[in-house]
Amino acid sequence: MIGGAMNIIEMKDIKKIYSETVLKGVNLNIKSGEFVAITGASGSGKSTILNIMGLLDSQTSGEYLFDGMNVRNMTDDELANARNKKIGFIFQSFEKFILKKSSVLDNVILPLVYSDVSVCKWRQMAEDKLGIVGIKNKINSSMNQLSGGEAQRVAIARALINNPAILLADEPTGNLDTKRSKEIMEIFLRLNKRGVSIVMITHEPEIAAYASRQIIIRDGLIVGEEEEL
Ligand SMILES: Nc1ncnc2c1ncn2[C@@H]1O[C@H](COP(=O)(O)OP(=O)(O)O)[C@@H](O)[C@H]1O
Ligand SMILES: [Mg+2]
Repeated sequence: MIGGAMNIIEMKDIKKIYSETVLKGVNLNIKSGEFVAITGASGSGKSTILNIMGLLDSQTSGEYLFDGMNVRNMTDDELANARNKKIGFIFQSFEKFILKKSSVLDNVILPLVYSDVSVCKWRQMAEDKLGIVGIKNKINSSMNQLSGGEAQRVAIARALINNPAILLADEPTGNLDTKRSKEIMEIFLRLNKRGVSIVMITHEPEIAAYASRQIIIRDGLIVGEEEEL
């Protein structure tokens, strides 16, 4: 595209109203390949923004273009397809989203069950992603044999299984100690170098510092921005 990289995220005057107005007119563009941190106090609307970005929720008003497509014009099938193939989600409470009694392999390949990728490729794909997060040797382990940090790596490997264009991470280190948190950030940096766009919510300044751009949100509005020079 002429004039720089394409925006994977374009939000124009996004408002979200539940019983009260939670997002009050968010304007935000994120270029393909960026690593962005969103910071702000609890209740400021961070998760609400991320859920709209990830097509898990829709705005009350305003315009949202995901990867150039106006989400208002997308069918449910198109939305589900984009969620499954273009977006990888990582949450703080990964325990909720993993099958504890299953193997690492079964957890990582779960998104492929709903895809048209042939079964014979699944194991290799899982090995590739587990290699990226540094726990390929655990592929046959049961989830309940893993530490919290290892379980979060499995969650990242699963989020990567369809080679998403963007990773959306909501407090990905919220349940981890400093050492494990840094390890997860090193993985994010490696992924970002490979071209994966990342939007990460965190309230920890030392975690936000890993991003190349930091956005501050207060009471449903973007109030500040810092860019690494
Ligand atoms: N599904 C919902 N229904 C009603 N209110 C909600 C819902 N989700 C979030 N909220 C409210 O919106 C505000 C912002 O929430 P959230 O986006 O989760 O903030 P943050 O992630 O910054 O802590 C809070 O006041 C919260 O109670
Ligand atoms: Mg939140």
